[in-house]
Amino acid sequence: MTDTTSTYTGPERVFSGVQPTGKLHLGNYLGALKKFVALQDSHECLYCVVDLHAITQPVEKGALADQTRQIAAAYLACGIDPAKSAMFAQSSVLAHVELTWIFNCVARMGWLERMTQFKDKAGKDAERASVGLFDYPVLMAADILAYKATHVPVGDDQKQHLELTRDIAERFNREYDAPGFFPLPEPLIQGPGARIMSLKDGTKKMSKSDPSDLSRINLVDTADEISKKIRKAKTDLLGDMPSEVDGLKGRPEVENLVGIYSALSGEPVEAILRQYGGQGFGVFKPALADVTVAHFAPITERFREILNDPAEIDRALAAGADQARAIAAPVMDEVRRIIGFWQV
Ligand code: TYM
Repeated sequence: MTDTTSTYTGPERVFSGVQPTGKLHLGNYLGALKKFVALQDSHECLYCVVDLHAITQPVEKGALADQTRQIAAAYLACGIDPAKSAMFAQSSVLAHVELTWIFNCVARMGWLERMTQFKDKAGKDAERASVGLFDYPVLMAADILAYKATHVPVGDDQKQHLELTRDIAERFNREYDAPGFFPLPEPLIQGPGARIMSLKDGTKKMSKSDPSDLSRINLVDTADEISKKIRKAKTDLLGDMPSEVDGLKGRPEVENLVGIYSALSGEPVEAILRQYGGQGFGVFKPALADVTVAHFAPITERFREILNDPAEIDRALAAGADQARAIAAPVMDEVRRIIGFWQV
């Protein structure tokens, strides 16, 4: 097998995306957006609002464009700078769709059948799921590889999809005898925010689709709502806060709260446990609420301000789409040439 990792010699480039479905929450922020912002100064970055992914499941009639603006506003509020990064809607760049078709003919059914997120999202009645939902990870591969992105900041739940992207890139390069054409992108997952769990069940990830709003902290929650949700967060009956990392074993809810504190404050878990070990949740929870509010209040304020000027958001999205098209166009020309399609 050709080792395509070592043969790709193009520049480093970052790509990631968020679906315009529901409100952004603390998991999205710590797993994805916070990392997006951190990468802007060191890398060429493309940040996409993945509206083609959103329609793999039912969307509220007429709401899509506005939800796309909302995610774009959240990107900006979190610190994405359109002068540094290309921010755009997926449906504005047709290369995503074209490359998906090509990758549909590279990916194998068996690869997609192994995807756990499809099984989770389709539930018991997979026969009624859209073909798009099944194909979701192939569209992800196209998103990333249309720009030959080498690094992809995501939460832990996207790990399997990133492995599939690498398999598709590797197989394309091999099948079409184009060693090193596509990079094998690296997921950037590590860090304490990679898997934020529900505040109501430490074994389930925090999710936009959880019916209970108390399970998540939304980017737009007020300080009071945040404090209430943290106060009501599930803990356990196994006693006070442990003072060492080992003491978090078998305590997923406590581990999650300490992980959130660490991810937001930048303090290592060990230091947090040294400080709060032996104390009750009546002490730790208010401290966590303070850290969370302090972090989110300025973001929420900026988010509301930005939403007041939708024309400015639209301008940023349009400029980002131009930049994205310009990067994808030569890649797609090469792809067509490599496959051998008829061309004028
Ligand atoms: P979405 O919108 O479902 O999630 C956006 C990002 O948030 C991360 N995330 C979490 N991270 C930590 N803890 C959680 N509880 C949590 N919940 C969500 C997700 O891992 C993701 O990084 N399929 C992608 C969107 C996408 C994409 C791409 C990403 C489409 N094409 C290409 C990267 C590259 C998704 O999960 O969106």
